[in-house]
Amino acid sequence: MDKIAAYKKLDRIRDLPTLPEIAMQVNRMLQEEDITIERLCETIEKDQAIVSRLLKLVNSAFFGLRSRVNTLSETISMLGFNSVRNVVVSVSVIEVFAGKTGDFDIKSFWKHSIATAMTAKKLSESTCIGNPEMCFLSGLLHDIGKIVLFQHFKEQFQLVMDLMSRQNITFMAAEKEADVLDHARIGAYLTERWQLPRSLIDTIKYHHLCGNAVSDQDMLLIVHTADILSNAFLAKTKNRKYISELDQTAADKMKTAIRYIQEWLPSLAEEINAACRFFMKEG
Ligand SMILES: [Fe+2]
Ligand SMILES: [Fe+2]
Repeated sequence: MDKIAAYKKLDRIRDLPTLPEIAMQVNRMLQEEDITIERLCETIEKDQAIVSRLLKLVNSAFFGLRSRVNTLSETISMLGFNSVRNVVVSVSVIEVFAGKTGDFDIKSFWKHSIATAMTAKKLSESTCIGNPEMCFLSGLLHDIGKIVLFQHFKEQFQLVMDLMSRQNITFMAAEKEADVLDHARIGAYLTERWQLPRSLIDTIKYHHLCGNAVSDQDMLLIVHTADILSNAFLAKTKNRKYISELDQTAADKMKTAIRYIQEWLPSLAEEINAACRFFMKEG
């Protein structure tokens, strides 16, 4: 199947996952200028499951608050609008894809995505480049196209997996070799349908190809680096082959953060474990 045929197939797929209405609304509201806590509360309150997840997060060890937060409006002012959007979209996306993935290792997939999200946020904060919250969300969704590839392009997915293990190459290199519509472009297609911000769509589309002109170059470099760092240092099977894929501009910009990686990695690894427990309802 050539790439044009693959795009046409994507257009025709009726059951491509949709974001729950509440996540769409929250996301749309946060792209408007005149957002208020009251309006955001009204929208989120329609989904009590999300409300309790937000309360659980704000009262968790993450924030180490002295007194308990009991209301949604307090939670929003504690977390800030962008964090609230992140939690609502993240929880929704993880739930949308839970349990519908057959033999695709969805747990490892989300662990890598959460690790990339947290690393991207950390890189953004420590380098003062980009918006940490947007970097988190882009990191979380950067590989989302892999699930669609697995669900709707089974033959191509299998071909890529076979090439990966036969030639000991990365997923992206195997996609290139197999000449299929790659997960980055499929992810961009999906998030465009979800009407997520343009900078996020671009970051997903080019997270393996940093040289392209995009709406937020800093975020792209950060997510690209975070993806590689989480594969190279944080995965159970540490694999240094990924490091060679690091784009030179990204390496130059993140130089100091990368140089001191051994200093901040242990605490980041702990934070990632806590985030995995929260988002994947583990423990
Ligand atoms: Fe990727
Ligand atoms: Fe990745």
